[in-house]
Amino acid sequence: MSEPRIVIETENVTRILAETVPVTLVREINFRAKAGEFVSITGPSGSGKSSLLYLLGLLDAPTEGRVIVDGADTSLLDRDELARFRLEHLGFVFQFHFLLPEFSVLENVAIPIRRLGKLSDAETKVRAVELLEGLEIGDQFEKFPDQLSGGQRQRVAIARALANQPTIILADEPTGNLDTRNSAIVQDIFVRLAKEQGTTIIAVTHDIEFAEAADRNVHLVDGQIARDGRTV
Ligand SMILES: Nc1ncnc2c1ncn2[C@@H]1O[C@H](COP(=O)(O)OP(=O)(O)O)[C@@H](O)[C@H]1O
Ligand SMILES: [Mg+2]
Repeated sequence: MSEPRIVIETENVTRILAETVPVTLVREINFRAKAGEFVSITGPSGSGKSSLLYLLGLLDAPTEGRVIVDGADTSLLDRDELARFRLEHLGFVFQFHFLLPEFSVLENVAIPIRRLGKLSDAETKVRAVELLEGLEIGDQFEKFPDQLSGGQRQRVAIARALANQPTIILADEPTGNLDTRNSAIVQDIFVRLAKEQGTTIIAVTHDIEFAEAADRNVHLVDGQIARDGRTV
């Protein structure tokens, strides 16, 4: 069997904020992840975890180095191309769900599909419901976010992240706002997505159990990779 392909790679990525006194968020990051790999990112508060995730997710750009996603050198893309690229290749899950309260669960999941504009309205709805069913919240599709539990809302956010079949899901403290039971559900969803669908998961977490459920852990200290290895 051939090795899974590399889906994201950074080459000496450094991000410095041009303040009066410059602030280095991350320094000389060389990171790679393969298709179907689940990588957790840990480190002390302020070590640059969110900064790194934003760079990997093309929500911020490095001051030095490059980020290659799905074979594309993203430094060559302009703002509009980047927005389209993110919509097509990447999915995001945050600590807070950021669902739109005035839209139904179905519409929240449908929004990124509509923005990409590849499916008809009927296909969009079918796809959104299928995603919700896969996360065992198919029966909630007509509800509004404030009618759901915290755990259900986070699953809707995951369905939305999966809407356009991204190569990579980037998550920043996805269980940070959940109880133990719902954290275990989200953890299990990520493990299955990586194993069964080949989605690459890169998740920042301070939850040790969650970090250990990943295939690999990258530990940041002071904006640099201090350790990078397989979990046991
Ligand atoms: N916009 C900003 N201006 C100044 N300092 C920032 C800014 N964003 C992040 N930082 C600093 O950069 C460091 C890394 O931040 P962050 O990536 O959010 O860390 P983590 O997610 O590991 O807690 C922290 O020391 C933080 O205070
Ligand atoms: Mg953070």
